[in-house]
Amino acid sequence: MARIIAGMGTSHTPAIGVAVDTGKMDQPYWRPLFAGYEPARRWMAQTKPDVVIMVYNDHVNAFDFKVIPTFAIGCAEEFAIADEGWGARPVPPVKGYPEFAAHLVQSLVLDEFDITIVNEMQVDHGFTVPMSLAFGSPAEWPVRAIPLAVNVIQYPAPTGHRCYMLGKAIRAAVESWHEDLKVVIFGTGGMSHQIQGPRAGLVNSEFDIAFLDDLSRDPERLARIPPLEYLRDAGAEAIELVMWLVMRGALGERVKEITRFYRVPASSTAVGTIVLESQS
Ligand code: DHB
Ligand code: FE
Repeated sequence: MARIIAGMGTSHTPAIGVAVDTGKMDQPYWRPLFAGYEPARRWMAQTKPDVVIMVYNDHVNAFDFKVIPTFAIGCAEEFAIADEGWGARPVPPVKGYPEFAAHLVQSLVLDEFDITIVNEMQVDHGFTVPMSLAFGSPAEWPVRAIPLAVNVIQYPAPTGHRCYMLGKAIRAAVESWHEDLKVVIFGTGGMSHQIQGPRAGLVNSEFDIAFLDDLSRDPERLARIPPLEYLRDAGAEAIELVMWLVMRGALGERVKEITRFYRVPASSTAVGTIVLESQS
């Protein structure tokens, strides 16, 4: 049986990808951030998942404003790296798992989650920055990955509660796959940030720390945060945090926190990460 053994929450700030790609990881501005991610990266290297489910958001690269699926699963053999305007990041293409992805789509749709099937797409910084933070800079990614894209770009994003319930359905879907697979699920984006308008640069560390705490202590509270509360209290782009609730929902009732790290700022965002092992 395939099993979701753990989840990783992480920001996807694009400047982190630029720092990796231009050799700036050892500069004073960036060194503490990459040092803070080291325990998560070490945990990942020891854990060696077979597959990751990457719950992430596209930023109008794979999908333009013509079509914006609320939830979409990538079923391709491979996903190329998107050119976001200054050339594609020099990271390897992402190896998918079409059979397993198709199984997840089938299980979720029959479970009444209306998933968009994507047979060809590219992935942007929302996907590749978490991969770099979790796996470093290998010649090939050491895992197969299933992209699960969530719309947090154009109103209305799905609610945190819907995302949490989707996570629970993903757990059941994974456990009904015949092969023995170690699966790690990612929830990405966040934490507090606002990148446009008069409130640009807004960060709310109290909100972020409470969010990290309650992933273990009280995920039901997080699942009930209304969309407007993210925007009002933690900045317009903090709505990306609903994707962490897909991850949390997929871990079952009890979790054990393995590591966390939180820092302000990177670019103009609060950056956070957490690794939670499923105890259920
Ligand atoms: C920034 C943050 C994001 O989450 C994003 O998708 C794009 C830009 C930023 O901090 O500049
Ligand atoms: Fe973003």
